[in-house]
Parts: sequence; C-alpha cells; structure tokens
Amino acid sequence: MYTSVADQTTDQLGGPLSVLVRQKRDHVRLSALMERLRGSTGEEQAAVLIDIYRLVFPHAFAEESVLWPVMRRVLPDGEELTLQVEREHQEVNELVTKLEGLEEGSPGRADVLDRLTEVLDDDVRDEEDALFPRLQARVSRRELQVLGVLWELVRRIAPTRAHPVVARRPPGNVVAALPLSVLDRCRDAVDRALLGAPDTTTPALHRASSVLAAASHAVELLPVMRSGEDPSTRVVAGKPPFPWGTALLGAAAAGVVVAVRQSVRRRG
Ligand SMILES: [Fe+2]
Ligand SMILES: [Fe+2]
Repeated sequence: MYTSVADQTTDQLGGPLSVLVRQKRDHVRLSALMERLRGSTGEEQAAVLIDIYRLVFPHAFAEESVLWPVMRRVLPDGEELTLQVEREHQEVNELVTKLEGLEEGSPGRADVLDRLTEVLDDDVRDEEDALFPRLQARVSRRELQVLGVLWELVRRIAPTRAHPVVARRPPGNVVAALPLSVLDRCRDAVDRALLGAPDTTTPALHRASSVLAAASHAVELLPVMRSGEDPSTRVVAGKPPFPWGTALLGAAAAGVVVAVRQSVRRRG
C-alpha cells in the first residue's frame, strides 16, 4: 500500500530539495489559486488566471520533460500511468485555449472554467496519490533530490501558456521550450500591463498581446514540435491531431513527382 504525498512530511518525502516536496508545494499554491478563481470576476479573475497559467504550465512542462521519462523507465506500468496524466495536461491546454476565445459572460465560459478546475484537481490527485508514491518506492532519497533540482531548473525556463499542439513528450516539447518560453513570458508582461492600464495605451497593448499569441501559435505548428508524441494523448479530448508531418512529406513527394514529370516532358 502506498501513502499519498499529501500525507507525508518533508523529511519522509526526501527533504527540502526533493522533487516530491517541490511538487506538493506547487499543488498547495494551485489549490489556493483555484479557491480565489471560484470567487472572482472581471479583472481580478483575469489576474488569477495569469497566475494559474504561470504556475501550471511550467510545472507540467517540467513534469513531462524530466519526471515522466524516469517513471517510464523505472515502473513496469510507467507508460500507462504517464499517458493518463499527459491526457489530463493536454485537456488543460485545450480548455485554456478555448477559454482565451471566450469573453467574460459569454455562454459556455462558466462550464469551461468548471471543467478546468476539475481536471486540475484530478491531475493533482493522480500525481500525489498514485504516481509519486510509486516513484518514491523505486528511487533513492538522493535521486529524488537530483530530480528535484533538474525539475526546478526546467520549470524556471519553461513556457507559461497553453500550447495544445506541441508534443507532451521529448524531443518535441524540449525543442519548443526556448522559443515558446520567450514569447509566453513577453505576453505575460503585456497582459499584466493591460490590467488597469489607461484607455490610451489599451489598444496598443491588446495588439502587442495578439501579435505575441499569433507568433507562438505559428512556432508551435512547426512539425518538429510534435515529435515524440503518443497519438492517443489528444484523441481523448475528441480531436485527433492534424498530421502535419505526413502532410508536409506528402506535399514534398507530390512536388518531386510533378518536377520529374515536367523534366521528362521537356526532354521528350
Ligand atoms: Fe504536479
Ligand atoms: Fe501535472
């Protein structure tokens, strides 16, 4: 029988450097932010959402690039376990993308917010009650500390916004980290400046935010950003992925066929 991370002390979890202590600390912060989200509206809600995104996306990104590969290596059913949380992370990405297109008061927004908090809660429970106690049973205290330092490093440079198109696994997510992180963090600064900004500067800030969002969506569509993905990750949300790699290869092959035919005709 395993003991949930929620019911263990810092020392039992491997000390202050341990990845389990860092995870638990972030999960507690998330639960406080979700409490604030439930009672907020307008600009206050927008500010809480930015705080949630800045906490959740780098946190999950670092899990996907540092922790889940280790889980897959050390646990016989690591593949199955990590796939489940990758699906939850993917759904969070899709819900936040949907939310960004829904103005306050628009139909469906409350449902999306409810589902978002529900999936985030499920994700925390799966990790604290099932995944992390299993990891804890397989690796040493020292390894938990090394993983903690690595996870923290990646978390600090990871993207801070939803990127539902990017792979939830290496190498795609690793390649995406730097460009998306720079664009996201600029967008965070612009969106924060927008809250309470004077009317004269609001249009320019809105434009800057849209340009940064468009730039990051263009970057995430590069086929390399999808490499390593398990295709079933996004089918769960009811939307099979668009096969960019296949489409590009198909287009390249068609171009070669046309070029060869034209050159044969010219010679003939
Ligand atoms: Fe977590
Ligand atoms: Fe997670």
